[in-house]
Amino acid sequence: MQTTVSSSTSPVEERARRSAPQFFSLIRDDLARVEADLGSLLASDLGIVDAIGRHLHEAGGKRIRPALLVLAARTCGGGASGELPLSVIRMAAVMEMLHTATLVHDDIIDDAKMRRGRPSVNVTWGNEISVLMGDWLYMKAFEITLEQRNFDVLDLLTEMTRQMTEGELIQLDVLGSVDITEAQHLEIVRRKTAFMFRACTEIGSIVGGANAGQRAALREYGLNAGIAFQLIDDVLDFVSTEDKLGKPVANDLREGKLTLPLIHLIELGDPEHRRLVEMVVTESAFESVTREEILALVTRHGTLERARSQARDYATRATEALSGVEDSEFRQALLSIPNFIVERDV
Ligand code: IPE
Ligand code: IPE
Ligand code: MG
Ligand code: MG
Ligand code: MG
Repeated sequence: MQTTVSSSTSPVEERARRSAPQFFSLIRDDLARVEADLGSLLASDLGIVDAIGRHLHEAGGKRIRPALLVLAARTCGGGASGELPLSVIRMAAVMEMLHTATLVHDDIIDDAKMRRGRPSVNVTWGNEISVLMGDWLYMKAFEITLEQRNFDVLDLLTEMTRQMTEGELIQLDVLGSVDITEAQHLEIVRRKTAFMFRACTEIGSIVGGANAGQRAALREYGLNAGIAFQLIDDVLDFVSTEDKLGKPVANDLREGKLTLPLIHLIELGDPEHRRLVEMVVTESAFESVTREEILALVTRHGTLERARSQARDYATRATEALSGVEDSEFRQALLSIPNFIVERDV
């Protein structure tokens, strides 16, 4: 699995590497080309941009979005054997750049101090520079995409970026509310995460030369895989550690963002639970109420497991979406990813 060009690897990457499923090795060479391309796209004559670009690139990451794009392209026949066209590699690098842009902005919004096992960009360079670096990444990604002269792809990317931004805006609009509903949360999840997964698989299908049926299937697959991915990210915020994830944990509630395990807990209607959750949100910290108490509640009342089970349902929908797509080792790899997403611990 090519997660970085740096010779030293972070604990997060190490973990990802050890749990790296089969699908990464199948496209190892493609991902190595994506890494090299990404490195060159992040380089700049401007010292500050270049330094942050290098910081971001060297930190690595799971690279699940480029992997999805490449596998979608190969599943749809684009270079099914042999080298992938540069357009596919480019778009995979572009999607990772856009993802990175959202992370840079997200860490400012969430006041997160760590990302991918390193100090976040906002910690190292401050919020002002980070806002602008996020903008730079967005615009650079669009500049590169424009060179492809593919309006289908541009349409998808501009819509996706608008909807992702709207997702984060909706999330901020309901910030601190303990009465957010499952439907509202799923809408945020779709926008802020799933639409990017959908764009990766759909764009992969387009640059891979898909027919209409393949394209629709890959689009549906990506959407459902993306919802599952974010629901598990939300679960990991409860159960995992900063060491494992390389980013803060127990951050969502502290920031006033309720996710499915707590939304379902509140819906059960015990006023004492509501009081405890409200206390954390009010104090913006686990002070009067500990993280362990909250974890015990969502565990005892089964709402943590319910969130996992909902993620599994979306993972199943993702695999089902590929039922009509011609089989290949690349399709098989795509079929294995939703399971990796829901069982992951990084
Ligand atoms: C983090 O995405 C943001 C979410 C959508 C939850 P990843 O978990 O894919 O982050 P990296 O790229 O591996 O660091
Ligand atoms: C995903 O939400 C944010 C983006 C899509 C950028 P989170 O805020 O939960 O992501 P992490 O947990 O910080 O990676
Ligand atoms: Mg966030
Ligand atoms: Mg965040
Ligand atoms: Mg999260």
